[in-house]
Amino acid sequence: MKLFKNTDIENFSAEDVWRLYRNYVNNSQVDLISKFGFGEDIAIKAEKNFIFTKSGKKIYDFTGGIGVLNHGHNNEKILKIRKWYQENKFMEIHKNFFSPYVAALSSNIANLLPGDLNISYFSNSGSDANEGAIKLAYKYHEGKRDYILSSNISFHGKKLVASNITNSRETKYFKFQELVKSENFEFNDFESLSKKISQIKKNGKCNIYAIILEPFSASSLLSLSEEFLRKTRKLCDDLDIVLIFDEVYSGWAKTGNLFYFMNYDGLIPDIVTSGKSLGGGKASISAYTCRNKFFKKAYDNLRDATLHSTTFNGLGEETATAIEAVNIIIDDNYVEKSKRIHKFLNKGLIELQNRFPNIIKEVRGAGALNGVIINTDFSDRYLQPIISLLPSKFAKDEYAIKKIIVSSYISALYDDYNILTFYGSNKDLPLKISCPINIEDESLRYFLISFEKLLQKGTFDTLKIL
Ligand SMILES: Cc1ncc(COP(=O)(O)O)c(C=O)c1O
Repeated sequence: MKLFKNTDIENFSAEDVWRLYRNYVNNSQVDLISKFGFGEDIAIKAEKNFIFTKSGKKIYDFTGGIGVLNHGHNNEKILKIRKWYQENKFMEIHKNFFSPYVAALSSNIANLLPGDLNISYFSNSGSDANEGAIKLAYKYHEGKRDYILSSNISFHGKKLVASNITNSRETKYFKFQELVKSENFEFNDFESLSKKISQIKKNGKCNIYAIILEPFSASSLLSLSEEFLRKTRKLCDDLDIVLIFDEVYSGWAKTGNLFYFMNYDGLIPDIVTSGKSLGGGKASISAYTCRNKFFKKAYDNLRDATLHSTTFNGLGEETATAIEAVNIIIDDNYVEKSKRIHKFLNKGLIELQNRFPNIIKEVRGAGALNGVIINTDFSDRYLQPIISLLPSKFAKDEYAIKKIIVSSYISALYDDYNILTFYGSNKDLPLKISCPINIEDESLRYFLISFEKLLQKGTFDTLKIL
């Protein structure tokens, strides 16, 4: 029997890791990722916005850790707080003693959020937070209403319930069992939303207990309009529908405000969910934060006080890490920094779009989460020669071609410029360019210069790299 020790791991080659993945983790994942330069290498260390690989490369990480890395890799202040926690042997978990960390983090969040968004529950993933919010909304209506509505462009997670209300190409391809009754409406279309609500009735009364929205959709880089959000807020007030904003990705200064919904004065959801960078890049912690009235009615009695909890919710060190992460966001003015990144990148990307209109169809984004839509239009004369080179089974699938072309840009940025990017799983598959909020200008400039060089080569040459 061979049991690895942690010290064995530094001697693993990429092939060793592939082999173990093939046998013990996920065989096809190796086929998917090992074709990219980053799949052939191993990341051994990461700091700020850089990843250092076994083959000696220094990579500019422009994924933002898929939302997790507002503070960058291994932020010094975050590491220090975790060390402090460990060296003092503070208690990690207990259900009998109150957690002073949970108390403090919840109080901080209540102080930072507008209105009476005061009550927080901490869990581990974004899906956990959303599912907690959905349960609370259902319980608020004492199980008397049956449906939750979500947008036809949405991503709320991959756990069973979260995937029921998610509408992205990736997750809708296979329909898992419906655990919640859900319907969807057209993105940013108030008429479509109100029509759905009036169609779903029970004994002539409203049968919707909640609406879940992403004010800024990270998977498509599209935002809901202020008009849509305000009208939806009013409708939810009129019909007593619980309005949930999913800011798991967009929250904690990622998209240019502390939360995206805070761009609009007086617009307050009944529950907001967050996660990802709440853990400062080190802790897996998420939260739902709820207005007083809703929590009170749903759970505030002796019988129901612990109706929703998990073993690991509110772990000590995770929660202490989140307290530090939130303080850094405020003390180091991440909101202003995030806005500045957007100004810088958006200006540069629009200039590139003006120079390469055949390749960049659209520039999208907010704060430190930006991106471009790469032109993959079949009818485009410029792309015709490439499409004709692809195997016919791909050439028929619009999304397969989009994936191939966007992936070729990701691959070329990595191989030729040491830049790691990724694409969004939703409408138009945006090539996402995201970064830690404390990134230095030099890295942003490096990205724009490198991307310009790649665009000069054009899609035809870039595709050949794959
Ligand atoms: C908006 C949004 N909600 C929920 C989730 C799910 O979070 P997790 O993957 O931590 O379950 C994500 C993940 O990317 C997300 O972007």
